[in-house]
Amino acid sequence: MDIYIYGTGCSAGDLIDSVLPAERISAFLSETGGGTFLGRPVIALQELAGRPCDLILVADRRADEAAARFAALGIDPEKLLFLKNHFALLDRNRCYPLAKTVLGEAFVRSLQCSEHLIRSPLWSQEEPLPADALAGDYVRLKTLEALCRRVAEIPGCAAELGVYRGDFARCINLLLPQKELYLFDTFTGFDAREAQSSGAGFVFAHRLTDAESVLSRMPHPRRIVVRQGLFPETAAGLEEKRFAFVSLDVDLEESTLHGLRWFVPRMAQGGTLMLHDYENPKLPGVKRAVERYEQEAGVRLCGVPIPDINGTLVLTF
Ligand SMILES: C[S@@+](CC[C@H](N)C(=O)[O-])C[C@H]1O[C@@H](n2cnc3c(N)ncnc32)[C@H](O)[C@@H]1O
Repeated sequence: MDIYIYGTGCSAGDLIDSVLPAERISAFLSETGGGTFLGRPVIALQELAGRPCDLILVADRRADEAAARFAALGIDPEKLLFLKNHFALLDRNRCYPLAKTVLGEAFVRSLQCSEHLIRSPLWSQEEPLPADALAGDYVRLKTLEALCRRVAEIPGCAAELGVYRGDFARCINLLLPQKELYLFDTFTGFDAREAQSSGAGFVFAHRLTDAESVLSRMPHPRRIVVRQGLFPETAAGLEEKRFAFVSLDVDLEESTLHGLRWFVPRMAQGGTLMLHDYENPKLPGVKRAVERYEQEAGVRLCGVPIPDINGTLVLTF
C-alpha cells in the first residue's frame, strides 16, 4: 500500500513513534519538498501527481488549507485522513474504513470528532486567535486567551520556556502585545542526554526549527527577546525580572524541574504559569517534576488542571 504523510513536524514524528513505522511510508509531503524525514524522502505536493497513492495522512493542523491544496491537485478526498480532526465538530474524513486497516480501530476512532467545542456568548464575537492555532487545541488556546486578559494589567514580563516552532508563543505575543516576551529554547531540540529514552520521531522532529523563522512568525517581534541555548544557563542576567505570565512546555522531567525552580520564585503576585503536558501519559516526567519541586521547596503549588488535549496545569500566584 502506498501511504504518504503530509507534514514534517511533531504530529508526523508522533505518528511514526506510535502507530506507523517509517518504513511503511512512501514519502513525506511538504510545500517545497527536499531532504528526508526519519530516513524517508520529503517530496513536494506537485510530485504526487502520477505516483501510486492509497492513503495520505494529513499531519498538519491547517486542515482547510491542506484540503484545498489536495483538491487543486485533483486528489480523491476519499484518500485523505486528517489527524487534526477536532475543530468545530466538523468531521472532514471520509476514508475511515481504509484508515482502520492501516492505523488500527482505536487510533482511527480517536480522530472522529473527539473534541466537543462549546462557544459561549461570554467569548468575544471577534475571534482574536488564528483558526489553525485553535484547531490544534481549542481548550488550551481559549484558556490562554482568558488568562492573558487577566494578567494583562499585572506588572511583569511574559516568557515561554520550550518554544519549538513558536505556535504557542505567537499567540502569547498576539494576546499580550504590551509585554516583553522572553523565548527560551535551544531551537535545536532536546538535550541529548535528557531525551535518551524518548522516541526517535519525537526527538528528531523537535530538532527541525530555528530562532529566525520563529521570530519571523511573531506578530509583535519588537517585544520578543530570544534566549537560545540550554535552560537554565540562558536565564543568566535575568534574575531580577518578574513574570506575569509564563508558559512552561519542555516535555521532560529535569528541564521542567529547572523551569519551576527558576520561574516560581520570580512570578508576580496575581501572575499565572501554564504547565503543558501535566497529565500527558506519554510525558510522565512533567508531573514528577511538579512533585519533586513541591517536595524540595516544601510548598504545595496552587494548580488548576484544565481539560485540554495534554492536560495543562495552570499555576496561580
Ligand atoms: C513541545 S516543544 C514546545 C512547543 C511549544 N510550547 C508550542 O506549544 O508550540 C518543547 C521544546 O522544549 C525545548 N527544550 C526542552 N528542554 C529544554 C531546555 N532545557 N532548554 C531549552 N529548551 C528546551 C525543546 O528544544 C523543544 O523545542
